[in-house]
Amino acid sequence: MIPIKNAPALQSASDFAPTNIALIKYWGKRDTQLNLPVTSSLSVTLPEHGTHTKLTLIDEPHDQVILNNEMLSTDANFYQKIINFIDMFRFADERFCIDTTNNIPTAAGLASSASGFAALTLALNEIYQWQLSKQQLSCLARMGSGSACRSLWNGFVLWQKGDNTDGSDSFAYPLNITWPELRIGICYVETKQKPISSRDAMNITTKTSTLYADWPTIVENDLRQIQIAMQQKDFIRFAEIAEQNARAMHATMQAARPSICFSTAETFAVIKKIEALREAGIPVYFTQDAGANLKLLFTAEYEQSIKNAFQGVEVIALF
Ligand code: PMV
Repeated sequence: MIPIKNAPALQSASDFAPTNIALIKYWGKRDTQLNLPVTSSLSVTLPEHGTHTKLTLIDEPHDQVILNNEMLSTDANFYQKIINFIDMFRFADERFCIDTTNNIPTAAGLASSASGFAALTLALNEIYQWQLSKQQLSCLARMGSGSACRSLWNGFVLWQKGDNTDGSDSFAYPLNITWPELRIGICYVETKQKPISSRDAMNITTKTSTLYADWPTIVENDLRQIQIAMQQKDFIRFAEIAEQNARAMHATMQAARPSICFSTAETFAVIKKIEALREAGIPVYFTQDAGANLKLLFTAEYEQSIKNAFQGVEVIALF
């Protein structure tokens, strides 16, 4: 699709990519090899949270992967994922040390794979000096992890699903809307590795869930409505749509065989608390990805109330 096969031009390259939180979720693939999605999706980037990746050419028989300062064994899942990705671009027998550090908990549903594959794609572009456009890089990052294609920009980002079978029109692009008052609060319910990968959960859901047939229509509608709410800066409408979309995604998983549930008792307790705060007049909503943690949605004027209500919440300004 993108004709790139050349020898590395540099000895090393380092890059950072931020993570993103989906407001309208990507859940289900029409092509599992290329990570082509069933629907489009929309995210907002957490500008300072993400992954630093350094690639260095090494004179060794195997690649080395260092994740958060720990050298991984060659049979670790993460090692394999990274190497499979790099194999698509290798010119000859060049070997790399891939040193990658997340400043967010790894694989706890906080989209570290999105920033991870985006940072790796940027570092590969640099070490090989491909000089690709961001749109092309978005297509490449997508092949590592779908949501990574949205991690190349700050702000609101839309991943258009595309129609082509080679994936050449399935990339993300930034939306020209800013919302300085918008806040995300990360509620760390669980920082341990999740029990099932989003990749497996997605595939089981699309194949077996009795509720999945309605998902594409739900997303299409939510995407249209949320963009109107964004244009109008209608926070309540915006956040209601995002929360409902996350709830619908989790409902499709619950209806899968076997049923999948990323929430813990603590997740449900926090959701009850969010609902109680809303009843009390504080406009706070949530979204949830493939993990137990919740991301609160609110505006700057309620920042103090949110900090008082949720011990240890990490508040992030997005613009
Ligand atoms: O990109 P993946 O394979 O990690 O899947 C991401 C799935 C969700 O985070 C649940 C939704 C999304 O759009 O990011």
